[in-house]
Amino acid sequence: MKICCIGAGYVGGPTMAVIALKCPSIEVVVVDVSAKRITAWNSDQLPIYEPGLYDIIKQCRGRNLLFSTDMEKHISESDIIFISVNTPTKTSGLGAGKAADLTYWESAARTIADASKSDKIVVEKSTVPVRTAESLKRILTHNSKGINHEILSNPEFLAEGQAIQDLLKPDRVLIGGFETPQGRKAVQVLRDVYAHWVPEDRIIIANLWSAELSKLVANAFLAQRISSVNAISALCEATGADVSQVAYAVGKDSRIGPMFLNASIGFGGSSFKKDILNLVYICECNGLAEVADYWKLVVKINDYQKNRFVERVISSMFNTVAGKRIAVLGFACKKDTGDTRETPAIDVCKGLLEEKATLSIYDPQVTKEQIQHDLAMNNSDLNHSNYLQLTNPATIKQVGKASNAYEAAKGAHAVCILTEWDEFRKLDYQKIYESMQKPAFFFDGRNVVDPHKLRAIGFVVYSIGKPLMHG
Ligand code: UDX
Ligand code: UDX
Ligand code: ADP
Repeated sequence: MKICCIGAGYVGGPTMAVIALKCPSIEVVVVDVSAKRITAWNSDQLPIYEPGLYDIIKQCRGRNLLFSTDMEKHISESDIIFISVNTPTKTSGLGAGKAADLTYWESAARTIADASKSDKIVVEKSTVPVRTAESLKRILTHNSKGINHEILSNPEFLAEGQAIQDLLKPDRVLIGGFETPQGRKAVQVLRDVYAHWVPEDRIIIANLWSAELSKLVANAFLAQRISSVNAISALCEATGADVSQVAYAVGKDSRIGPMFLNASIGFGGSSFKKDILNLVYICECNGLAEVADYWKLVVKINDYQKNRFVERVISSMFNTVAGKRIAVLGFACKKDTGDTRETPAIDVCKGLLEEKATLSIYDPQVTKEQIQHDLAMNNSDLNHSNYLQLTNPATIKQVGKASNAYEAAKGAHAVCILTEWDEFRKLDYQKIYESMQKPAFFFDGRNVVDPHKLRAIGFVVYSIGKPLMHG
């Protein structure tokens, strides 16, 4: 059996690596339009950072795992084709800002239609709006030359930074197919692939539309939990309650559960906002205005939380951060990833830059080029020293990338933790305090540090959702 995956990204790369690892008898090829991406996958510098990924790639690459730009050849030779291309939010036209942009996805579907010479199972892996399989079927049938393309939905639930663990030990694998004899047969073929390492009772079979919708709903529910606890964090600060204690007590109810209740500066990542907006758009298209409004609020609270943090920094620092140096620890959307897509750090940093603060940013995985790109800075003043000052021609804005947390904090008026990297728990905060301007402010956007310990050192501490005690 041969499997081809179109799209060598965060989802396609790790997923196919684990299939190749667990199914040595199956040849797995990952193809992509981007030659640069494929070259990176074939090198020692993989295009994405995921703990454990490189070891698997080293083990399988060249054995039963290939990365190639020859889409036509590998599509035509494969029995199962996964579509794992990006589906960003549309930026213009109908549904702009909400609907999924299916341009890449349709282009992949047309490539399959053109390249196929025999029957195929085509698997939707990227998150798509519900009933996308209908359009996919039409594109494939339109150009089918008598070939049968059986469509399945097999959404991926992996989280970044823990992709390999999620793939090796998934909570569930969801496979949706058409309820026809051919559909059921195709479901069985894919089920057999996963059965190489996933226990039978974790492989869920559903109808196609349920599978497509479940992915959007799972992400919407997860994001909703974060917005719920973040909304409560504001109330905790106002009342003297501690959001960690509240979340712990609430999460002990087995109907609620303890996971995903960490208050933060807001959720980021490539999926949550995009998928909720997509859900909102689908609801609106179906005339369900109240349902759409309900889910919109999850995104609104997330924006509110980011703004609230920026306002807290400014108001605490005597209502001005102009010309003050602020150390930003963490820029990625979460720990253990270099991914900055929709990271709340972008909005927080931009908010501080607009107030004319000088930022020295340290993140263990995010490059200075990426930070510069995300903050839309001017490229011309880029120098390659560890500490870099960038100048925007319109307003003079200053951003530096420090090579470690101590360097970032040296001489700063304030430290902001924006990503919960483990190394930030173990820093020598006494040393940091001594190197800073006084009063030394500390804004913990991820509840990483013990505020009591930092206050004992002398910091003025603000932690999300915790009682405020200045000075
Ligand atoms: C998410 C889903 O978890 C995954 O199942 C889906 O396939 C893709 O989207 P991901 O975005 O990679 O995965 O990471 P996740 O761990 O879900 O975190 C998303 C964001 O929420 C991060 O910014 C994280 O910091 C934030 N978060 C998470 C919180 O603020 N609090 C929490 O308690 C959990
Ligand atoms: C609730 C809380 O469960 C309990 O912990 C608290 O102490 C008091 O309030 P109660 O109102 O007695 O208890 O019943 P509960 O089982 O929670 O149901 C409340 C309502 O939600 C009922 O009308 C029930 O039919 C409805 N419900 C519950 C649903 O519609 N769907 C569900 O999945 C669960
Ligand atoms: P995800 O997080 O969903 O995996 P990524 O953006 O990381 O998304 O990866 C998607 C990949 O799909 C990119 O490497 C992109 O080059 C690739 N891609 C997009 N459109 C096509 C296409 N029509 N054919 C092949 N590859 C594509």
